[in-house]
Amino acid sequence: MKLIFLGPPGAGKGTLAAKAVEILTVPHISTGNIFRAAIAAKSPLGLKVKEILDSGKLVDDETTIGLVRERLAQDDARAGYILDGFPRTIPQAEALSGFSAVDKVLNFDIPDSGVVERLSGRRTCKKCGVNFHILFNKPEREGICDACGGELYTRDDDKAEAIRKRLQVYRDQTAPLIDFYREKGLLIDVDARPGIDEVVENFRKSLGV
Ligand code: AP5
Ligand code: MG
Repeated sequence: MKLIFLGPPGAGKGTLAAKAVEILTVPHISTGNIFRAAIAAKSPLGLKVKEILDSGKLVDDETTIGLVRERLAQDDARAGYILDGFPRTIPQAEALSGFSAVDKVLNFDIPDSGVVERLSGRRTCKKCGVNFHILFNKPEREGICDACGGELYTRDDDKAEAIRKRLQVYRDQTAPLIDFYREKGLLIDVDARPGIDEVVENFRKSLGV
């Protein structure tokens, strides 16, 4: 199954994707995770995008589209994938339709207040990128990733000013994708407000998996 997870920052896309890949056995492809890994490795891509990510703005379409096109050409993505955080603009969505046919688009529905609460308490693993929350999704040992033992940190774009910027960018550039995909008959609305287990259940029901 080829899925897009669409929604505002902090809606829980990455958290649900980590569970959904086990249900569907497809790769989780997060453009945000790819950019953060490049920044950590100080690769040319990482040096180019670091300031953009920290400020909460979007990386340019050409760079992002090229990266996803290459990733989807790999063997493990042939039969299916979860695209988390891509597309984020209409030009990205138009480009994607030229190289891959998506089955469904899950639209994560959550008010801004929920986003702020989730992002301000998020802790992310430096090593594997898995997300925790200081109240809603605590690691077994404080500051340590359950999955790989890596160190947990607060992302630079989870500070108040960058959160505001990302919400504005979402409204201006990404929210128009809701109608874009609804008109194509691909959109499924998901109530992203409940706890993680309930969101996973709703996901299973809405796709029949
Ligand atoms: P990206 O990494 O995609 O960031 P984002 O969209 O801002 O989303 P987040 O990862 O912040 O939120 P999420 O929905 O995954 O929530 P999570 O599961 O972590 O992108 C980062 C940056 O990269 C962008 O700003 C941009 O610069 C660049 N970029 C990426 N893609 C791009 C593109 N296509 N084009 C251009 N630039 C691009 O959950 C959040 C918190 O809530 C966690 O603490 C979690 O534990 C908790 N939580 C999750 N679900 C629940 C729940 N159901 N109940 C309670 N708590 C929950
Ligand atoms: Mg994410």
